[in-house]
Amino acid sequence: MKVELQGTLEIDRANFSDRRELFALECQCFDPEIRFSRKQFAYLLKSPRGEIYVMRNSGQIIAEAIFLKRRTKRGEVARLYSLAVKPEYRGRGYSKQLLGKSLEALRQQNILMIYLEVETENRTAIGLYQSLGFAPVKLLKDYYQPTRDGLKMKLNLVA
Ligand SMILES: CC(C)(COP(=O)(O)OP(=O)(O)OC[C@H]1O[C@@H](n2cnc3c(N)ncnc32)[C@H](O)[C@@H]1OP(=O)(O)O)[C@@H](O)C(=O)NCCC(=O)NCCS
Repeated sequence: MKVELQGTLEIDRANFSDRRELFALECQCFDPEIRFSRKQFAYLLKSPRGEIYVMRNSGQIIAEAIFLKRRTKRGEVARLYSLAVKPEYRGRGYSKQLLGKSLEALRQQNILMIYLEVETENRTAIGLYQSLGFAPVKLLKDYYQPTRDGLKMKLNLVA
């Protein structure tokens, strides 16, 4: 089922009061073993290391991109922990818009590089990451479960 857009779409950084809506979105999109808990959202939204961007339709969260920043010897990098769009809003380019804007915001914070892990069977997500410039760096055998491999991908934000 697709829904008609009734208002304006906005992309911004999530705040602490978004934690219940974010948790509800995770429950819709991911299995219990791999999704964030309410407690993890509370931590991520308070921590200076956490960075969560959301797309809202008339104020209601319809997509999320969750990053965790980390210092390295060369500078700061970020891991894309979760990306999800409500099922009824998929296939309209929203994840691409949200991720594109999030990457731009991270670039402006001088983040050097973004990395992520994705299941090799998730062709949609891999296609999306490749279209934004992510390149595969390593196959992660049995990363999710026995027989469910992962792929590590990376995007340099500075030339
Ligand atoms: C993966 C997900 C975020 C994509 O969201 P979406 O808004 O439907 O994706 P978009 O409409 O923005 O499509 C973006 C790009 O994905 C790629 N894509 C979309 N459908 C695809 C398909 N069936 N096969 C390959 N690539 C595909 C394309 O590159 C597309 O860009 P293009 O239309 O310019 O070619 C969404 O399906 C989702 O929430 N899935 C469940 C959670 C999940 O798997 N998250 C990723 C975990 S790592």
